[in-house]
Amino acid sequence: MKNILFLASEAVPFIKTGGLADVVGSLPKTIDHEYYDCRVMIPKYLCIPWDWREKMEYVTHFYMDYLGQSRYVGVMSYRYEGVLYYFIDNESYFSGDRPYGDWLWDLEKFCFFCYAALSALPLLNFHPDLIHCHDWQTSLAPVLLKDRFAGGEFFRSIKSVLTIHNLKFQGIWDIKTIKRLTQLSDYYFTPDKLEYKKDANLLKGGIVYADAITTVSESYAKEIMMPFYGEGLDGLLRARAWDTRGIVNGIDYEEWNPETDPCLYRNYVQRNFRKEKPRNKRALQEDWGLAVDPGCFMIGMVSRLTDQKGLDLVQCIMDELCQDAIQFVVLGSGEEKYENMFRYYDWKYHDKVSAQIYYSEEASHRIYAACDACLMPSLFEPCGLSQLIALRYGTVPIVRETGGLRDTVEPYNEYEDRGTGFSFQNYNAHEMLAAIRYAERIYYDHKRDWNKIVDRGMQKDFSWRSSALKYQELYDWLIGY
Ligand code: ADP
Ligand code: GLC
Repeated sequence: MKNILFLASEAVPFIKTGGLADVVGSLPKTIDHEYYDCRVMIPKYLCIPWDWREKMEYVTHFYMDYLGQSRYVGVMSYRYEGVLYYFIDNESYFSGDRPYGDWLWDLEKFCFFCYAALSALPLLNFHPDLIHCHDWQTSLAPVLLKDRFAGGEFFRSIKSVLTIHNLKFQGIWDIKTIKRLTQLSDYYFTPDKLEYKKDANLLKGGIVYADAITTVSESYAKEIMMPFYGEGLDGLLRARAWDTRGIVNGIDYEEWNPETDPCLYRNYVQRNFRKEKPRNKRALQEDWGLAVDPGCFMIGMVSRLTDQKGLDLVQCIMDELCQDAIQFVVLGSGEEKYENMFRYYDWKYHDKVSAQIYYSEEASHRIYAACDACLMPSLFEPCGLSQLIALRYGTVPIVRETGGLRDTVEPYNEYEDRGTGFSFQNYNAHEMLAAIRYAERIYYDHKRDWNKIVDRGMQKDFSWRSSALKYQELYDWLIGY
């Protein structure tokens, strides 16, 4: 039996701000439990709903010296769907109504988390062979494993993997501050280690010190080795190319199953989507005050509203698009400029556009079921889960050919009768509009062909099965067979 510990800042169903939580909450349960004991450790945020917090069981607590003070570290646990979750408790760090907010405070919070997590391990009766870290929040751990924790017998053999879900966020601050928060010596603050453009960079530390690096699609793994997508770390990533691989994300096929999904107005399968999807669409139109017309081409977006998601392209063509026979529904929250943009178009074209500016699991399920197409024109996209969910729900993705979107959506080819979606290459609003209009034309004028695209998409398998095997291979390679 090999012991694996996931160290992360969020996990479904406890706390989620993006796709990272979906991955951390669904990959461990797919890892083969016969050969791997895979557990997960996250902070015990006060914003985890009470329903979950009240179920957690006390495991242990201790006091740890951090930044010159003795700090409380509690460990709670809860077994969910066969996976044991640990929660690191410290109310002064993990209070607040969101997991992240203030950059400087977040840096301290997650440096503390990495220290607390590693310090707790010897008390848990669980010796990980490998710690699988995710994004900048936990990338101090691979550094600590080679430094502060390297001496003792317990930690010596522990390997580490760092998965990059989004290279945009790196945990950067001035060297003096990071040196204080990480409690690392001067040795680490040189350009080949944590120093980065005169500042210090936590993610960079993880990339330098982890035994292997993964990212969440093959294309993104190649892209980040180039300056355009490399966010200043492309050189380092090229240097570590041999230890870096892209493993595409899956989605939880139990949670995302149109046949059994309790959130839907009508459940459906591949055999009857032609009849049942329009019923879901009609119900959504009624609920959200759109013109009731189940035959109208409905485009959906379920997304964080940030620059990454290509929303400036959408803004550029929204008036033009709304001259067509379409409806547009968006569910998301984020940057105010985009929230207001969608509110404005909702006001201007109220029977065609519906802007739902909030976070709701239930509403997201209903959109995936109701829409004909799902738009993802991202500037960059490490993997993207929305398009995978859309495919499973018979909703045709319209995407920009980047990162995981490129790897998971096969562009429609009308001559060879192939493909599962529509795509465009350049970050250009009218190129995107042309792709949307091409989709409209197939939907309205060639319905049989459209339905075949849906069929092909629904047949694809984006469950975790094959990707979990790739992670297991990686674990075996690092730990030894
Ligand atoms: P990212 O992680 O960059 O935000 P992904 O496509 O990988 O993008 O994952 C986003 C996940 O969050 C998807 O499961 C999507 O359905 C969900 N999501 C995004 N915004 C909302 C929202 N406002 N309400 C409900 N779910 C949302
Ligand atoms: C990040 C990326 C997204 C990816 C998710 C899970 O949030 O933006 O593309 O799907 O992580 O790996």
